[in-house]
Amino acid sequence: MIIRKSDREIARMKAANEIVAQSHALLADKIAPGISTAELDAMAEKFIKKQGGEPSFKGYRGYPASVCLSLNDEVVHGIPSSSRILQEGDILSIDIGVYYQGFHGDAARTVGVGKISPEAESLVAATREALDEGIKEAVAGNRLSDISHAIQTYAEDRGYSVVKQYVGHGIGRDMHEDPQIPNFGPPGKGPRLKEGMTFAIEPMINAGDFAVKTRDDGWTVVTVDGSLSAHWEDSIAITGEKPVIMSRPNN
Ligand code: MF3
Ligand code: CO
Repeated sequence: MIIRKSDREIARMKAANEIVAQSHALLADKIAPGISTAELDAMAEKFIKKQGGEPSFKGYRGYPASVCLSLNDEVVHGIPSSSRILQEGDILSIDIGVYYQGFHGDAARTVGVGKISPEAESLVAATREALDEGIKEAVAGNRLSDISHAIQTYAEDRGYSVVKQYVGHGIGRDMHEDPQIPNFGPPGKGPRLKEGMTFAIEPMINAGDFAVKTRDDGWTVVTVDGSLSAHWEDSIAITGEKPVIMSRPNN
């Protein structure tokens, strides 16, 4: 069942997502060669708590950290570690969830560490743009898979592949609500979108093949072929007109 939210509830989800966005801004400032992913995790946790929020991911199914930090061929769910030191040329996917006053916010960004290769730059840009294409379809009257199809088409037209094993999701009082939102599929399928639905749309795009596997730590998802992967996610609310992108400031 897809839980629709009232304007009041959406206002509260915006507040949770505001902390998510601020946390991203805080970390973006610290990204540089030499810093460890554990240090970034600690900074995010401290900031989230200072704002009165809780990191949504901590303890979720036993997840051991506050944010997910995934480097290069790591797709999602990278566990922060003091031995993972950022290096010039890396790409880092930062996924942050915040629980605040009864609601979750969730967003991911992929950033370059120092100067990155043109190939990495293009992958990161295409993933961000694929998310934007998906968001454009998130309007009342469309069907769910219109979002999925727009993302897949944009990414594959540029020679990239879309991760199939992990998907976006409804979000609200629970971090994961119905529906699941694949980043692939034909248009015109699935439930009709209605005002008040709130989604976390999150393309994970690989430079090589779409196949992924989980490392022995039980969490870190990596590409099987070792190719680079990027991840962008925003939490949005469906309205009568343009979607509200709750996890971007001024939206
Ligand atoms: N943002 C991810 C998601 O939407 C992260 C959750 S996995 C966790 O599913 F274990 F880290 F919480
Ligand atoms: Co998510």
